[in-house]
Amino acid sequence: MQNYNNQPIGVFDSGVGGLTVWRELARQLPHESIIYYADSQRSPYGEKSYETIQQYCKEITEFLIEKGCKLIVVACNTATSAAISYLRTIFDVPFIGIEPAIKPAALQSITKHIGVLATKGTLEGRLFNETSKKHTEGVEVHIQIGTGLVPLVEENNYESDEAIHLLKKYTAPMVAANIDYLVLGCTHYPFYKDILKSLLPSYVKIVDPAPAVARYTDFILQHHHLLASPNQKIFHHFYTSGKAANFLFLIKIVTKKSFLVFEK
Ligand code: DGL
Repeated sequence: MQNYNNQPIGVFDSGVGGLTVWRELARQLPHESIIYYADSQRSPYGEKSYETIQQYCKEITEFLIEKGCKLIVVACNTATSAAISYLRTIFDVPFIGIEPAIKPAALQSITKHIGVLATKGTLEGRLFNETSKKHTEGVEVHIQIGTGLVPLVEENNYESDEAIHLLKKYTAPMVAANIDYLVLGCTHYPFYKDILKSLLPSYVKIVDPAPAVARYTDFILQHHHLLASPNQKIFHHFYTSGKAANFLFLIKIVTKKSFLVFEK
């Protein structure tokens, strides 16, 4: 007989960016309840030390485990680079992380030039540099730190002139280098997909790893016999360390629905 586990999945990010991962999880795993935590008050994480990020991630994980979460998705590239190994040493639940999807981009690139837009913490991390070395032979990787892009999403200013100006500045050298793939290495950046599409030549493909993360989460849930029953009544709860009103607005944009947001 099939055993089910109806406890929720925990998902967290430095802020609202992880909603782009939450959206895929909710779509691919419709029988799972999810508790999302946005650390918006302490966002951005990108320029903070790994020790600080580890401490934040530990506190958030403790909170999610107290709420009964059976598995944690670290929906933040920076937090994955800085803290996922550390979290695995102190907690027993399975963790799923997110990394810039350079492997599929490098494999499929025809021009043999790919771009990666991510935070300083991700691009300077061991994880990114090891993956890059291992999976991009014969391909030139053009990296760019997306300074300023995370706060613009957090403030709901991701369609502003400032955002367009920054994105133009960050992508122009990559376009000049003839990239045909742009990897989004930060979960906040899919908010910029429409602007990026308008700025990049039409042959440049934008890679967002969120669908792959949701597929992998499904696989791990199955592997650990943690899938929820298809008959359970699910819930989606959202917590933020910042202001609920701002978060609520962005949730509506991402999900086209209204949810309750709790300030913590
Ligand atoms: N969404 C986070 C990421 O994927 C943003 C990091 C930050 O807060 O700077 O890296």
